Amino acid sequence: MRLTIANRNKHRAMSFAKTLTVQNVRNGLGIIAKRKFAAGATICRIKGEVVTGEAVWSYWDTDSRRGKNCFRYDADHYLDPDGEIGAFANHSCNPNAGIVKTGRRLMLRAIRLIAAGEEITHDYSTLLGADDVWKMKCNCGETACRKLVRNFGKLPASVLRRYRRLGIIPDYIIETGR
Ligand SMILES: C[S@@+](CC[C@H](N)C(=O)[O-])C[C@H]1O[C@@H](n2cnc3c(N)ncnc32)[C@H](O)[C@@H]1O
Ligand SMILES: [Zn+2]
Repeated sequence: MRLTIANRNKHRAMSFAKTLTVQNVRNGLGIIAKRKFAAGATICRIKGEVVTGEAVWSYWDTDSRRGKNCFRYDADHYLDPDGEIGAFANHSCNPNAGIVKTGRRLMLRAIRLIAAGEEITHDYSTLLGADDVWKMKCNCGETACRKLVRNFGKLPASVLRRYRRLGIIPDYIIETGR
């Protein structure tokens, strides 16, 4: 196998969680459950380096893929999951998981029953504050696909209400305003 960065990362990521694997899916590589997860279960910690917003901007010049992979961590910081399982977390407009912050940790949590073999996805908009300008054309294939993934303030009101009820929009995202 060619030792591309993607392959190296894939193998590092695969060794991090016995309950998860990384496979080719509809949108490139993605995270697949190796066992079922009950609704509300913690799937894994999203590990990585906490970096400033400026650092993320600088990735755009050197490695835009890396910039796109970052998770908003607080008002001024992002978590860079490079080489970790979080670098393979794809977006869906009808996700089965969400990100919650517990203390200083970002955790991936099931928001419904997830069967073994299912891809684990979350909604990127839940971590995009009003001051985040990043957008993504969506290819999740869901009936309710929004086509364009934008910050949380652009979520349809009913979706936003549901996500807030599920606790998967961190306070620091809500605090950026709508
Ligand atoms: C965190 S990475 C996920 C792993 C990625 N699929 C890969 O193969 O490396 C995020 C990137 O995956 C792609 N992606 C994830 N979800 C997507 C979706 N619903 N529609 C289109 N592209 C998606 C985008 O290129 C995005 O910038
Ligand atoms: Zn979509």
